[in-house]
Amino acid sequence: MRVRTPLVVGNWKMNGLKASAAELGRMIEGYGPELRWKVQMAVCPPATLIQTFCVAALGSRIWIGAQDCNADVSGAYTGDISAEMIADCGGGLVIVGHSERRTKYAESDAQARAKAEAARRAGLVSVLCIGETEAERLAGEAIAVIDSQLAGSVPDGATGSNLVLAYEPVWAIGTGLTPSNADIAEVHAHIRQRLVARFGREGEKIRILYGGSVKPANASEILGIADVDGALVGGASLKAADFLAIASVYA
Ligand code: PGA
Repeated sequence: MRVRTPLVVGNWKMNGLKASAAELGRMIEGYGPELRWKVQMAVCPPATLIQTFCVAALGSRIWIGAQDCNADVSGAYTGDISAEMIADCGGGLVIVGHSERRTKYAESDAQARAKAEAARRAGLVSVLCIGETEAERLAGEAIAVIDSQLAGSVPDGATGSNLVLAYEPVWAIGTGLTPSNADIAEVHAHIRQRLVARFGREGEKIRILYGGSVKPANASEILGIADVDGALVGGASLKAADFLAIASVYA
């Protein structure tokens, strides 16, 4: 038996309108018992669709979440939403520290950590993203970068039920490029070892997803790597057929 239930999370980024509920509907339809018992699926649409999607997904066991949150409960943060607001809409998870937030909005490890803590405060699971840039990998610094991101952004008290990690090499996101299986295996094993060193047996329960250009054509290879407990999927999560094909690797 697996220690960790596999999880496949769709990150829709800034894509989707009300009409996209039809795509979610096709995902719900395709998420039958043969999949449900084997893999947990989640969709993180833009904030404007969270409530609609939560209502549509009621009873389907597809988990709905957000792509970011502010670390505070409420206040003067024009444009932001809090973890409590996501929970209030019925959301169950939130992506924090995504590399697009880190690079385009200069978010730090400390902010990612504060957001993960906010998620826990609101009863949400956070999907905390880490990963090296291409320059860092070429310089042989990937593991060192991951170590410092783990130390800086994983909150104390992380457990298998309040935190999911996502290893997303920045250069693999949206590019069609993926690391070799050996590189993915090395990083995931390293993250696992660090989690166990810090959290003991609880570190065994924290899921580690791989993200970056996961698609139906490479899913079975990537998801078959040791210590890869699922995927964080961007582009290929926008179409039900592709997203279901990825999750179906576990069927
Ligand atoms: P991608 O995005 O699957 O389109 O590469 C992954 C992500 O940004 O989480």
